[in-house]
Amino acid sequence: MSVKILRKKAAEVSADLVAIAVREGKETAGAVSHLPKALHDVVVRRSKRLSYRGKPGATMLVQADGHDLLLVGIGDGKSPEHWRRAAAAVRNACSTTRAATVAFALDDAERAADILVPVVEGLLLTGYSYDKYRAKKDNGYTGPKTVTLSAPTLTDGARARSIVEGVEGTCEAVCMARDLINEIPSVKVPSHLASVARTLARDRRVRCEVWQGEKLRREKMNGILGVSAGSRHGGALIKLVYTPARRAKARVAIVGKGITFDSGGLSLKPAKGMETMKMDMSGAAMVLGIMKALPLVAPAVEVHGFVAAAENMTGGGAQKPGDIIRFRNGTTAEVLNTDAEGRLVLADALCLATELEPDCIIDAATLTGACVVALGPRVAGILGNDQRLIDKLVACGAETGETLWQLPLVEDYEDDIKSSVADIRNIGGGYAGTISAALFLRHFIGKTKWAHLDIAGPAWTDRGLYYLPKGGTGFGIRTLLAYLESIG
Ligand code: BES
Ligand code: MN
Ligand code: ZN
Repeated sequence: MSVKILRKKAAEVSADLVAIAVREGKETAGAVSHLPKALHDVVVRRSKRLSYRGKPGATMLVQADGHDLLLVGIGDGKSPEHWRRAAAAVRNACSTTRAATVAFALDDAERAADILVPVVEGLLLTGYSYDKYRAKKDNGYTGPKTVTLSAPTLTDGARARSIVEGVEGTCEAVCMARDLINEIPSVKVPSHLASVARTLARDRRVRCEVWQGEKLRREKMNGILGVSAGSRHGGALIKLVYTPARRAKARVAIVGKGITFDSGGLSLKPAKGMETMKMDMSGAAMVLGIMKALPLVAPAVEVHGFVAAAENMTGGGAQKPGDIIRFRNGTTAEVLNTDAEGRLVLADALCLATELEPDCIIDAATLTGACVVALGPRVAGILGNDQRLIDKLVACGAETGETLWQLPLVEDYEDDIKSSVADIRNIGGGYAGTISAALFLRHFIGKTKWAHLDIAGPAWTDRGLYYLPKGGTGFGIRTLLAYLESIG
């Protein structure tokens, strides 16, 4: 799908589907005043009859006079998320009407350049579908060939063009992450993630290094080794570095949980709980997606990406409840539940990230079911030791539509992860599982500024929602890229 920009009114563009953004409460007649008289009258009558008022996301499809016309509500037009969802509604209407060409009128937007980002995101993220393993494609329709965005107020054409290119790059990265999350677990074993990482290093600004087997042992990656012990597929520590062309203003480490399948290990999950556990590498997918997009987004920040990859299985060599792991930084942890494996592999990567002495570390992990209970499927938890960093990330998330909600790192709960035989243990006291998991991670980040994103809820969606098709969502990529851009 190619996105074009036109400084004209939408009615002057001929397209299979013409979509018009409507502000809530405004007379619909205003938004469609430039349409041919006959069509205009149909639209006005229909919108009156249906009390169509342009509520955010609300649509009205009019097929009359050989035209397909879609009204799409944008509320007061001030929320980027409303524009993102409006664009998603336009893209979804294309699937209904099988439009090959679309014109989307942003005519009403005073500052069209500001809404360009969410609009193009809404279009590109909605078009995604995962059908690698489908023999029968649904109907052969693969989306519109061109979408023309029309806005007479878009004065700087060159700038608009470069905004669109940037969004195309990030959305491609999000869709790559979705592909990885949706990939079947027997294919996307740790070595598969490693080979994806290596392909990202084809860009001259990105370097990649992979530790496997004996190297993991020498480097004391004992969390990854412990979790991988029950699997025929060895774990991997994957490192990617992005070096900007300009002098770096900051050094940031990003760390992702890469459990390619989480059976729970010997603390086996029930069947239902395992159904979606191929998604347990969504933090890793986020890191890989970001590293893919960085050369194009090009912030002046040195970014070190770490993926801790392992498969959590029950093979004869599997680690056992009661085992103790000695981590690279000397900390020992009693493994009381092999299903709390994410924090074990993350600990290794966090030790390495900390050794780099970066300005900050941001990790993302599908870490706890407790976070889904607390915040539901659309909101990620954020915890950390630096309020400024957390506030910035929360603000970036509000802009990108990826909601982050802070949970407290309650000092008193540190007691819950004390062990009688090791320094700490890998489960808490039964309550506040998201917080005890984060407290566990804190043992591996020293004094570095750090934020932890528990993305167990929003990394995956069981049903298609606006611009999030069923399956892996690619959560976090757009927010962290926005953060990196803001500091570089
Ligand atoms: N990968 C799971 C967490 C998860 C659950 C992610 C649901 C997405 C959806 C994690 O490894 C896990 O099993 N956590 C346990 C921790 C417990 C044993 C302390 C959990 O949340 O039950
Ligand atoms: Mn688990
Ligand atoms: Zn897990």
